[in-house]
Amino acid sequence: MNKIVVAIDGPAGAGKSTIARIIANRLQILYIDTGAMYRAVTLELLNKNISIEDIDKIEEILKHIKIDIMDDKVFLNNKDVTHEIRQQVINRTVSSVSAIPQVRKKLVDLQREFARNRSVVMDGRDIGTNVLKDADVKVFLTASADERSVRRYKEILLKGLDANLGEIKNEILARDELDSTRALNPLKKAHDAAVVDTTGKDIEMVVEEILKIIKPKL
Ligand code: DC
Repeated sequence: MNKIVVAIDGPAGAGKSTIARIIANRLQILYIDTGAMYRAVTLELLNKNISIEDIDKIEEILKHIKIDIMDDKVFLNNKDVTHEIRQQVINRTVSSVSAIPQVRKKLVDLQREFARNRSVVMDGRDIGTNVLKDADVKVFLTASADERSVRRYKEILLKGLDANLGEIKNEILARDELDSTRALNPLKKAHDAAVVDTTGKDIEMVVEEILKIIKPKL
């Protein structure tokens, strides 16, 4: 198999990580969830009580932070934070943290390093437009805001937690707005990305649709 680089971007709740993980698995290549990396930095700032305005302290943290992704697990300074980074408090804060230029620079460098000389499926907001501009395949994954909210709602209920659909939809819309209007590398479809709308489709249908785009490049 040739080296293949697949970039998957799209808004919160479009199903990027579920789909990207399955595709990487089918192709037997590395999967990198870049949202998880922004979440790990957010967790570190919350743990250390650092305000998102305190750029000096943030720069200091970024100098020493260690983020690793291995076998679907995320490690922050060698500690497994896979579950911790999915908390509501992180959902609410991560968009603001990901708008900080110093944070983006550090994580984009790391993402390019992870992808160097390797086949990879990477998902996020700016992969096709910025991080891996030369990706062989670019997909922009979307779904209606209602469907994305219902998916998140069901995910939370399945974990046995309480959820409010209206609140989830508001949070998703707020995140869409912040992610697509920030100054630096906002969420945007790359001009050469294929749009895949997952509204009303099950996971397998979407995986097949994307594999059809990838296969001719293998
Ligand atoms: O995909 P996610 O919900 O885990 O992403 C969390 C946040 O990180 C999202 O609100 C925007 C930000 N993000 C980003 O700015 N750039 C990326 N490549 C990935 C995520």
